[in-house]
Amino acid sequence: MFEVVSNEILAENLHKMVLVAPRIARARKAGQFVMVRLAQGEERIPLTIGDADPEAGTITLFIQAIGASTRKIVDTPVGGSIRDVAGPLGKETHITNWGRVACVGGGVGTAVLFPLVKALAEAGNEITTIIGGRSSRYVILADELGALSKNLLITTEDGSLGSKGFVTGPLGEMIADPACAPKAVFAVGPVPMMKAVANMTREPGIETIVSLNPIMIDGTGMCGGCRVQVGSETKFACVDGPEFDAHLVDFDGLSDRLTSYRKEEAQRHAATDC
Ligand code: NAD
Ligand code: FES
Repeated sequence: MFEVVSNEILAENLHKMVLVAPRIARARKAGQFVMVRLAQGEERIPLTIGDADPEAGTITLFIQAIGASTRKIVDTPVGGSIRDVAGPLGKETHITNWGRVACVGGGVGTAVLFPLVKALAEAGNEITTIIGGRSSRYVILADELGALSKNLLITTEDGSLGSKGFVTGPLGEMIADPACAPKAVFAVGPVPMMKAVANMTREPGIETIVSLNPIMIDGTGMCGGCRVQVGSETKFACVDGPEFDAHLVDFDGLSDRLTSYRKEEAQRHAATDC
């Protein structure tokens, strides 16, 4: 059992939950995730390890409550517990000192970006972080990311915070200016955002890493649920990723697979609302 020591709402349907998990806190590296199951018989949910405190023996998870299972997980109060937290899983992020890097987070993907920015800052990179959401209500972790970055740029689609538009706007300006162009780009967010970033950095040849969130079932390479086409190869995001070279990812195939169970999810959602 993994005790919940804090559970805070960061934005609509987005919780920051801290759990006691000493072994995972000691072993985890940036980019890795855990498979969480609230109770026996419940669905397993993959969640990025947002942060860890090895001394306190805790890990931080950012959880978007979008389905029946995630809603039950975020409803666990402080002092309550989660039955299974398996991990750390997946490959750690390849971190080096590129010099100037851009880190791009769209909406909830910003939470997955946070540990990458932290690791890149610790490696001495000069980071421009660009985060965005539909409106100011959906912009998360701005203070935390601002403290780790040389520049923090915010975009909102309605212009309620930062500049109006998509996160790709400021990234395009950076790429176009030889004095600011990044040596590497990390992007996490909705599939169309990651695809747009990959298309912008392909021609100038800027190394670009994306973190993918396909459907996962076991998280250990057994079921094939998380398969994604990367170049000429089929990869399993849970063991070969979740980070991949953005220029090789088949984003359209990923999008198709992500939407394939939407009807069943909606039915389960409706059933648990009763
Ligand atoms: P959203 O749709 O509100 O978009 C957030 C921001 O992403 C937008 O404000 C914009 O700046 C950018 N964006 C979106 N579409 C874009 C496009 N076509 N071109 C350029 N920029 C674009 O996002 P949300 O509702 O917060 O996030 C939900 C989505 O994020 C889900 O699809 C979920 O699967 C995905 N997600 C991905 C990861 C991951 O690891 N890759 C993690 C969490 C969530
Ligand atoms: Fe089953 Fe990756 S989740 S193979």
